[in-house]
Amino acid sequence: MITLTVNGEARRLDTPARTHLADALRDGCGLTGTHIGCEQGVCGACTVLVDGKPARSCLLYAHEAAGKTVTTIEGLDDDAVAEALRAAFSRHHALQCGYCTPGMMVTARDIVLRLGAVDEERIREELAGNLCRCTGYRGIVRAIAEVAANRPVLPAAAPRREAPAVAAPVLATVAPAVELPNRIEHQEALAVPLEAAWAILSDPARIAACLPGAALTRHEGAVLEGTFTASLGPISASFAGVGEWAVGDHAGSVRGRGRDGANAAEGQVEFHLTPAPEGALLNVVLSWRLTGPLAQFSRPALLRGLVAGLAGQFARNLERAARGEAPAKRLSLWALIRAWIFGR
Ligand code: FES
Ligand code: FES
Repeated sequence: MITLTVNGEARRLDTPARTHLADALRDGCGLTGTHIGCEQGVCGACTVLVDGKPARSCLLYAHEAAGKTVTTIEGLDDDAVAEALRAAFSRHHALQCGYCTPGMMVTARDIVLRLGAVDEERIREELAGNLCRCTGYRGIVRAIAEVAANRPVLPAAAPRREAPAVAAPVLATVAPAVELPNRIEHQEALAVPLEAAWAILSDPARIAACLPGAALTRHEGAVLEGTFTASLGPISASFAGVGEWAVGDHAGSVRGRGRDGANAAEGQVEFHLTPAPEGALLNVVLSWRLTGPLAQFSRPALLRGLVAGLAGQFARNLERAARGEAPAKRLSLWALIRAWIFGR
């Protein structure tokens, strides 16, 4: 667990020791403006400011940035020099695909601030650590030279916001509150009366029994422990995790985190039941953060399809359970993806 300041906001991130800062910014903070090209310090696409100085975020462990101030391209929205650079890049056609642009902007801003009016040869030398695959250097250099020659006046730096003091967790096993950058809302119609559905949804063991791939291994008060297994063809991931459970009036939430090898997941499911003409309506809000190889699945349309498929299987299982029948339990991501593709 580390605390740092990102774009003026205190952030608390739960990130494995070997995660580099670029991944932590993208996966942990949802700041995808920081691009990753070579991951070996050559291309400069991942350049961010660390304590005000340009740094390769692929060469820094996130833990090395603990306690520091990090500024990504998103944090330069209101910056006077970055604003002038954006306009100049546009005027001089200084981007094509734009992949290098966030890193170029961060370096260009540093050149303008540090050197002021400089000739194009010096700008090319300073830009040696930022590669543009589209080879749009001519426009990039001209844009920087123009801004450098008319360096805008900078407002005084905003005071640094400190990360809040972190209280020791009451229960070492319970997931601490960190930001979850992804969120999906979903509704599922249940063909069972509201109270019959609530009898299942108010009991974590019965929920786990209806959720394909899930198994509950411990339930003590608000603390849950369990596993979640999903398969994609021959690949199978089994997350073992802990969570916290809370219930209200026909509503509840589970927040937890788990790990399977290099994959780590943290998530929260909030749900509430409302009456519907044919039975009940299950309203679900799913928030999560996924790191590791499985994070490749964070394509919004595909994920929405997977969530809808999983929620549909859960709902059908809940209806079976309400009728006293056994639920279908194995979760095949491939079957859900196939259904999603054919559905489209
Ligand atoms: S991704 Fe960091 S320098 Fe290329
Ligand atoms: S504009 Fe495409 S990599 Fe630079």
